[in-house]
Order: sequence, then C-alpha cells, then structure tokens
Amino acid sequence: MGLTLFATLFAGLALSSPLRRAAGDSSLPPPLRFTSNGTFQISIFEDLHFGENAWDTWGPQQDLNTVKVMNEVLDAETQQLVVLNGDLITGENAYLDNATVKIDQIVAPLLARDLAWASTYGNHDSQYNLSRHAILAREHRWPRHARTQQMVHGPDAGVSNYYLPVYPSSSTGSSSDAPCLLLWFFDSRGGFQFQRRNASSGAHIGQPDWVDQSVVTWFEATNARLAAQYNRSSFPSLAFVHIPTNASQAAQMSPSGIDPRRQPGINDDAANLAQQAQGWCADGSNGPECVYGGQDVPFMRALAATKGLMAVFSGHDHGDTWCYRWDGVLPGMEVRGSGVNLCFGQHSGYGGYGNWVRGSTQVLVDQRKLGGGEVETWIRLESGEVVGRVELNATYGVDLYAETPDTMTHCPTCNYSVITNMPGTK
Ligand SMILES: *[C@@H]1O[C@H](CO)[C@@H](O)[C@H](O)[C@H]1NC(C)=O
Ligand SMILES: *[C@@H]1O[C@H](CO)[C@@H](O)[C@H](O)[C@H]1NC(C)=O
Ligand SMILES: *[C@@H]1O[C@H](CO)[C@@H](O)[C@H](O)[C@H]1NC(C)=O
Ligand SMILES: *[C@@H]1O[C@H](CO)[C@@H](O)[C@H](O)[C@H]1NC(C)=O
Ligand SMILES: *[C@@H]1O[C@H](CO)[C@@H](O)[C@H](O)[C@H]1NC(C)=O
Ligand SMILES: *[C@@H]1O[C@H](CO)[C@@H](O)[C@H](O)[C@H]1NC(C)=O
Ligand SMILES: *[C@@H]1O[C@H](CO)[C@@H](O)[C@H](O)[C@H]1NC(C)=O
Ligand SMILES: *[C@@H]1O[C@H](CO)[C@@H](O)[C@H](O)[C@H]1NC(C)=O
Repeated sequence: MGLTLFATLFAGLALSSPLRRAAGDSSLPPPLRFTSNGTFQISIFEDLHFGENAWDTWGPQQDLNTVKVMNEVLDAETQQLVVLNGDLITGENAYLDNATVKIDQIVAPLLARDLAWASTYGNHDSQYNLSRHAILAREHRWPRHARTQQMVHGPDAGVSNYYLPVYPSSSTGSSSDAPCLLLWFFDSRGGFQFQRRNASSGAHIGQPDWVDQSVVTWFEATNARLAAQYNRSSFPSLAFVHIPTNASQAAQMSPSGIDPRRQPGINDDAANLAQQAQGWCADGSNGPECVYGGQDVPFMRALAATKGLMAVFSGHDHGDTWCYRWDGVLPGMEVRGSGVNLCFGQHSGYGGYGNWVRGSTQVLVDQRKLGGGEVETWIRLESGEVVGRVELNATYGVDLYAETPDTMTHCPTCNYSVITNMPGTK
C-alpha cells in the first residue's frame, strides 16, 4: 500500500473514530481525556537521538542509557501522554535496510505502561537512508498507542503536522462531546531528502528547516473550523515543534535576555540559539554562509494570532531549557507576541550533542485553570530530582523562582563524542 493512501485511510479513520468508538470498536485508540482529578499531564522526550554509531560501542550503549532515562521518568511521573518532540533517530548513521527499527526500542517503555505517544519529527529524522514516512509507518504498527498523524499532504509540508483533541474527564467519547484542550504538532522539517542526490555533485539534497506556508494555512483554517463546529471563540491549546522560531532567538538576544530567576532553565546555547530557517538563504539556496531570511515569519504570525495558545515546546537546542513569555515586539522583530510562552524541553537522549544531565520536561494542565490559560511545567531529571518548576500564568516572566542548576551528566563514560553529524546541525 502506498504511503499516501495509507495516510489518507488513517486520516479518514480518525474522523469517524468517535462514532466507531461509541459502538465499542476496541481496535480504535481511546480518546485522550483529563483524569478524574481534572488534570492532564504530558511527558516530553526530545532529542532522543537513537541509533548513533551502530558499528561502535558508543551508540548502542547510549540507547541503553536513554531507555533507562525514559523508564526512570515514566516511573516517577503520572502522565497521560508522551510527546516525542523530534530527533528520535540520528538518521545520518542509519542503514537503508533497517533505518526505523530503533522506533521499536523507543516505544517499548511506553507500550509496557500502555501509554499513548505523539511525535513531531526533527532534522535528524530525515536523512539519505531515513524518511519521515517510514518512521510514521513504523509507529503505526501500534495503532492503539501511536497518535502521530499526517494531516497536511503537500510536497513541502513535511509529515508530522496534526492536532489531537483532549476531552474532559466526564466525556464518554461520544461524537457530540467537545474537546476542552487542543494539542497541535508541527513539522519544522530540515535534514536531507530521502534517497536523493545532486545529479552533478552527488551530494545529499537538503530539506528546508521551517514550518511551511501550506501548514500555516491548514493550521489557521482548521483552528477556525473547530471553533465554528463547537461554537467557541477559541480553544485552550499547546503546540509542539522540534526547531524553535526566530522569536526564541530574539528573546535570548534582547537586552533583558533570559533571567535565570524569571525564566529559569539552562541557557548554554546562548548568543544565537539555532532556529528555524538557519542555513537557508531567502532565495531558496542553502549553506553555512546563508543569512537568516525570515522564512518562519508566517508561522510566528499564526502562533501569535492564535487565541488560547498557552505555550509552544521545542527541542533542537539541547543546552536551553527555559520558557519565555512572548508579549509585545522583541528588538529586531516585526511580529508582535501576544503572551504565548516559548519553551524548550530537556535533552532526554544520550545520543546527540552535549553532556547536560538528561531528563524530561513535564507539562501539567488543570481543567479548572484552563479559563485563565495557565499551565504548570517542570523538569524531571534522570537523577530523580525535579528542577525548574514554574507556573506559566499571567505573571510569568515577573515572578521570581529558584535558579535551575546547570548540571552535567553523572555518567562520565557517556559523554558526547564528535561523530559524523553535519556542522551546524543540532
Ligand atoms: C488524583 O490525585 C491523587 C492525589 O494527588 C493521586 O493520588 C491520584 O493518583 C490521582 N489520580 C489520577 C487518576 O491521576
Ligand atoms: C545507507 O544504507 C546503505 C545500505 O545499508 C549503506 O551501504 C550506506 O552506507 C548507508 N549510508 C549512506 C549515507 O548511504
Ligand atoms: C542495522 O544494519 C546494520 C548493517 O547491517 C547493522 O550493523 C546494525 O546492527 C543494524 N541495526 C540494528 C538496530 O539492527
Ligand atoms: C548541485 O550541485 C551543484 C554543484 O555543487 C550546485 O551548483 C547545484 O546548485 C546543486 N543542485 C541542487 C539542487 O542542490
Ligand atoms: C453559540 O454561543 C453563543 C454565545 O456563547 C450563544 O449565544 C449561541 O446561542 C450559541 N449558538 C449555538 C448554535 O449553540
Ligand atoms: C530575528 O531575531 C533577531 C534577533 O536575534 C532580530 O535581529 C531579527 O530582526 C529577527 N528577524 C525577524 C524576521 O524576526
Ligand atoms: C503565578 O504563579 C506564581 C507561582 O505559583 C504565583 O506566585 C503568582 O501569584 C501567580 N500569578 C497569578 C496572576 O496568578
Ligand atoms: C564527561 O563530561 C564531564 C562533565 O562535562 C567531565 O567532567 C568528564 O571529564 C567527561 N569525561 C570524559 C571521559 O570525557
């Protein structure tokens, strides 16, 4: 079955699923729901970077360490959903014949706990031997647990663009129930095209690394359609995208910058964190000499204009873990923020660059606080400690919190070694 046909069938299934679920079809994924306590918790694993150096000991050992991180976090927290926020696999090191088998190792700790997951794909998930479509197909071997979808099918859209509704605890899963929270997943693309080489030079062909205009158009139309369908002016929502936008860099570069007590979190990828469209010129060519051309401006405008959007979570920059409340116009920018929080998660994988202590960012939504647009977030470290607990509420950015300690991993033999990653790709 062709991949497009497969994805189309899946999308059709998703649309009719409330009815079939109500009819007792147990092969369908149960709806995401707030607990009877009125809470919904998400654990984010990002930059897992499975599959480094398969031919070496450094690599397979990293994956075992990463599974340990996942198990420790999953045991310590009580989440209803796991988000895999990009760079699941280090595709540069993948072999064509078995490029996606690492997905089985990634999802094993989730299946063992009967947990649902939802992915966004990162720049390392598209390489010469690894395609996003192949990862999606592998995830769908577990249709009751994998919530990742492709809802936008244009040639430049990427794959992991979709939304998931979350229902109140009282919901029966019937088709007339209204969701009370929306989760948006966006594909910031990047990396290289699958099995394509430049005919003259033989080089791998790059894939642009920002959220495409076709996805922005779909997002705006879908959000408006849902509001009309449920007769609401907006929905409380959260968004996930692997590569942050230029607004995160502008926040970091602004004169007030990232304050360790007002925006707690490590800020080690400082002085120009890597953002969308990095390495791509405005004329569509790419290379390290390219000056940022503002290609993510339509996406930033859409985020800022989305009423009810509480926070956007990114990965990619392993050395940054803060949240910044983007309100007003940041220096150098034209797009005006309207209070959405731009957040980084914690590097979870032992693959990928950096020796910061591994962990997982937690997001806790409370049904009773949804009207005020408030979300709580903290980082559960593999050591068991909790750091960076903040309330993303109306005074976030003003309130004072404890600083997040800048801790390195306790596993000295696990250190990142410089491998075959392309320079400038995080
Ligand atoms: C509800 O909260 C209580 C007390 O915090 C906790 O023990 C229990 O596990 C929670 N239940 C669910 C379904 O999360
Ligand atoms: C891709 O996979 C093939 C077949 O397994 C392998 O020979 C090759 O080294 C891999 N990597 C690249 C970059 O082609
Ligand atoms: C994938 O195939 C390569 C080449 O045959 C092999 O070295 C590697 O161990 C395989 N990886 C996995 C996870 O099976
Ligand atoms: C292919 O390589 C040539 C020579 O390096 C370059 O001029 C051209 O722009 C490349 N084409 C693409 C599609 O990347
Ligand atoms: C939609 O909501 C408005 C106010 O919230 C209400 O006045 C109106 O009757 C609702 N329309 C429908 C069709 O339920
Ligand atoms: C991007 O952010 C930088 C600050 O890091 C700013 O100087 C620049 O003007 C911004 N560009 C756009 C298009 O937002
Ligand atoms: C936001 O949360 C902080 C920490 O709990 C609290 O001190 C502050 O009063 C809250 N602000 C609002 C507007 O609720
Ligand atoms: C690994 O990193 C830690 C913390 O940065 C450092 O103290 C240690 O010496 C490093 N170990 C090796 C083997 O490079």
